[in-house]
Amino acid sequence: MAIASDAFIPDLIQLSAMTQPTIESILQEDRVFSPPAEFSKTAHIGSFEAYQGLYDKANADPVAFWEELADKELDWFEKWDTVLDWQPPFVKWFEGGKLNISYNCLDRHLKTWRRNKAAIIWEGEPGDSRTLTYAQLHREVCQFANVLKGLGVKKGDVVGIYMPMIPEAAIAMLACARIGAPHTVVFGGFSAEALRDRLVDGKAKLVVTADGGFRKDKTIALKQEVDKALENDGAPTVENVLVVQRTKEDIHMDSRRDHWWHELQKDASADCPPEPMDSEDMLFILYTSGSTGKPKGVVHTTAGYNLYTHMTTKWIFDLKDDDVYWCTADVGWITGHSYIVYGPLSNGATSLMYEGVPRPSNPGCLWDIVEKYGVNIFYTAPTAIRALIKLGEHLPNARDLSSLRLLGTVGEPINPEAWMWYHRVIGKERCPIIDTWWQTETGGVMITPLPGATPTKPGSATLPFPGILADIVDLEGNPVDDTSGGYLVVKHPWPGMMRTVYGDPDRFRRTYWEHIPPKDGQYLYFAGDGAHKDKDGYFWVMGRVDDVISVAGHRLGTMEIESALVSHPAVAEAAVVGRPDEIKGEEIFAFITLEADVEPSDALKNELKQHVTGEIGAIARPGEIRFSDALPKTRSGKIMRRLLRSLASGQEVSGDTSTLEDRSVLDKLRSGA
Ligand code: WTA
Repeated sequence: MAIASDAFIPDLIQLSAMTQPTIESILQEDRVFSPPAEFSKTAHIGSFEAYQGLYDKANADPVAFWEELADKELDWFEKWDTVLDWQPPFVKWFEGGKLNISYNCLDRHLKTWRRNKAAIIWEGEPGDSRTLTYAQLHREVCQFANVLKGLGVKKGDVVGIYMPMIPEAAIAMLACARIGAPHTVVFGGFSAEALRDRLVDGKAKLVVTADGGFRKDKTIALKQEVDKALENDGAPTVENVLVVQRTKEDIHMDSRRDHWWHELQKDASADCPPEPMDSEDMLFILYTSGSTGKPKGVVHTTAGYNLYTHMTTKWIFDLKDDDVYWCTADVGWITGHSYIVYGPLSNGATSLMYEGVPRPSNPGCLWDIVEKYGVNIFYTAPTAIRALIKLGEHLPNARDLSSLRLLGTVGEPINPEAWMWYHRVIGKERCPIIDTWWQTETGGVMITPLPGATPTKPGSATLPFPGILADIVDLEGNPVDDTSGGYLVVKHPWPGMMRTVYGDPDRFRRTYWEHIPPKDGQYLYFAGDGAHKDKDGYFWVMGRVDDVISVAGHRLGTMEIESALVSHPAVAEAAVVGRPDEIKGEEIFAFITLEADVEPSDALKNELKQHVTGEIGAIARPGEIRFSDALPKTRSGKIMRRLLRSLASGQEVSGDTSTLEDRSVLDKLRSGA
């Protein structure tokens, strides 16, 4: 079976194979856009010199830099004893300190004029809407925290959250944080199987869900998936399920296990003092795909994550008190955690949440919302921008977008054409664009322009955030100082970095710290991305160098999809690669050998696609499946994915094929036989 064991460090994709066509386009990209003077005038960081000053200060003494900010920007119940304890690869920040992120996101604003400011503005897909002020959100969070306590959830118990994009998702997260119960949010598009795996790995004690959610004019039956995940004692640690009523469709409620949110919430007390958390107490686990079959639970802790998301939100989005800020991500991903919930609320901002997505019945919905609420800051993914380009300029052009002052992107490289469209059609050539590079593991944005300070180039995430010592190195850890490219690493710990893989510190070490050995005693965090620096030192991130593909900005492990495929009785072996796709960035292409007695057919292809949807979720559904009676392997039995990638993208197979065990396999694959 083509599934790697956990103990094995997979080969990296050769940089030359990955980036060749793109290097040329970078070298040709010489457009530079200075921050608009009007913007810089009022920006938190208003000039390149100001950025450089901060960067140099942080570089010279990162510990003092973060300590000063922690003191100034967060509220603490008790101050720390030590700022940084770095025992590579394990880090602790602000040890001895006590705080609570829900206090920093809510209570501290109640003492100011922000008490009655909108914390969350929510727009439902069917057109319903709701606004929660900081005082109202605080009340809801305290009540829900008491509901959780009433069901026996204690500090340290993990709570699963499997929700549509409704305010209750944020309320549940903040309530967990308030009582010290780490949450693990599972994206609502994942299947029951994927949900079960995460609940089992996290040993979740309770699940918060909804009867369903609205998406693309349909409903998604979330509670039904939870039932499936829990049937036959599928996740034995789960004792209770809390269900928000959203779609009002008929669902099954098990009276011993399931409870309606609204019934318990209405009688719950609104008095719930925040639990004093140690700086390093776990705040949440968020699962993400890696190079092996099993998603890894990325662990973030309290103080460092709070500080890092707070500072990055403040400076990168240049938050002003009257801004309406909108990040279109789902709370099921890290972007939703850091830049819908924790970062904006810690800053006392107004964060907009939208349940829906553009759809045939309302392709202009995003621009309607910008107009309706006067959105000032808009943060989305390149995939969404490419899809919006397809829908046509007439949609944004028919709305008043004059409130917008800053645009951002995240999740994958943005192609310069999409950047230019965003700049011209949405930003009307007046809004700076911030292309933010970061990861679930990094907690917050790492490489990004600061909008009032950094000249931008379409397609480049530009320069590291102050305090982030990013670099590009070769496999021995030597810096690559010319433009030829290498592996993106970070050379010094930062507060928002992941602490470990939940329950598997060895995997943490192997995945992030062993591909590239420490250089002169300095540990290098390996991000798994290939990148180039141009002559101005700007970073151009090219994409993953491991077996992770990015479909519509969502990270999927090829091994994860392969294990889903081989769990189907017709499949003997599967190899999955990414193929470039105009809108989604990459599309999943699966090569499959069938069991001897199985006949290939289109019906079987559809059945297999459906099978993957059932095992993981619709985001992992292969775009194309090709049957083959063998897969290209080296003599030692490793699947040669490089060849499959070329075949999938219709390119000539180039490079060395001498290690191929059976050369006739290639011809057969080419002809699709
Ligand atoms: C990719 C999402 C290029 C990258 C926040 C990274 C990007 C992975 C960018 C993390 C960007 C994210 N330019 N590539 N601006 N932002 N990526 O964990 O490959 O879902 O390693 O976090 O997305 O994906 P994740």
